[in-house]
Amino acid sequence: MNAFDPGRIRADFPILSERPYGKPLIYFDNAASSQKPKSVIDAITEYYSHSNANIHRGVHYLSQKASEAYDAVRVALKDFLNAPSEDEIVFVRGTTEAVNLVAATFGRTHVQAGDEVLISAMEHHSNIVPWQMLCEEKGAKLRVIPIDDHGQLRLDQVDNLITERTRIVSLVHVSNSLGTINPVKEVIRLAHAKGVPVFVDGAQSTAHFQVDVQDLDADFFAFSGHKILGPTGIGVLYGKRALLESMPPYQGGGEMIRSVSFERTTYNDIPLRFEAGTPNIAGVIALGEALRYWESIDRDTAVQWENTLLAHATVALQGISGVQLIGTAAEKASVLSFVIDEVNALDAGMYLDTKGIAVRTGHHCTEPVMHRFGIPGTIRASFMFYNTLEEIDEFVNHLHGAIRLLRPLNA
Ligand code: ALA
Repeated sequence: MNAFDPGRIRADFPILSERPYGKPLIYFDNAASSQKPKSVIDAITEYYSHSNANIHRGVHYLSQKASEAYDAVRVALKDFLNAPSEDEIVFVRGTTEAVNLVAATFGRTHVQAGDEVLISAMEHHSNIVPWQMLCEEKGAKLRVIPIDDHGQLRLDQVDNLITERTRIVSLVHVSNSLGTINPVKEVIRLAHAKGVPVFVDGAQSTAHFQVDVQDLDADFFAFSGHKILGPTGIGVLYGKRALLESMPPYQGGGEMIRSVSFERTTYNDIPLRFEAGTPNIAGVIALGEALRYWESIDRDTAVQWENTLLAHATVALQGISGVQLIGTAAEKASVLSFVIDEVNALDAGMYLDTKGIAVRTGHHCTEPVMHRFGIPGTIRASFMFYNTLEEIDEFVNHLHGAIRLLRPLNA
């Protein structure tokens, strides 16, 4: 019997009591954005009601209070990721900005004509396009690790694909459209054996299991606050000190400088060198509250519960005639993507919406994955620890209804 109690946990999330179209909300779009506990929502109001001021710039009470709260979250993030130092934690808008930052700084410095950047066939567009833009600018080549029919990385090909021209490997930790958990530690080992650094896109992993950047030996690791119970508009880039210190700034502005004259500007130390302008102070503080929430629940049993949900839903969908799962890797987290014979994914998503069920349909910002499987898109149900087995059963019932209504009679 699983000791995790989603009923108790759900009371912490006000939005889960919403009733779209008068129906109880079943929120299965957690891979797009997680819901927020009340403590995170309250932290935003609390900040603007009692602490709002710009940080690191004022001698007054409020500025100091806001600065202390902001700086404390950097330390909490160091612990969350087991980073060696809070100096290696850079606040960004989200995973997308983190990839763009590394491509524009580390990438522009190290990637030259004829060099190679290695990604995988299951990357989100945000871990393709910034590298593609860099390769176009530099005359470099984007190379791709293929995936198999289960949506698993072809690990056997990785070593060959890392050549003497490879300057960086950038790999998703957990695929947002397939749910595959990638063997990033092994890829990092292979890359490091050839002196190549690795960026890990952790947008989908940090919400579902504990990440230890030192154990992975990741050179860069990024995630978005809104997928781990925090607010939108705030994310984290971890980078090894030596790499961050060697990188030029990303954007120019206040905070990232040491001194400015018209003749010459010198830059601040890391991490502030990468945080030009007034940051998302409320977002950082609310993200800190999200981290506190993670600490307050038993993470191991939450992970087990999500695995129970995924297994239950997988078995149920496998039992529906005409349903084909897309992404059947041995190691998966919280994502169930599927197509239904003769039923358009968008139509099915809209039908489910009328029943109060939120899923995502389409290519999920991973068009190459859809090309790989020869489909335009999938229906994706993605789970979080606050979901229940009853919600999955209700979802499956309504899926039968969608199929009855939408599948042509002669199919
Ligand atoms: N990357 C997010 C998703 O998978 C938006 O839905």
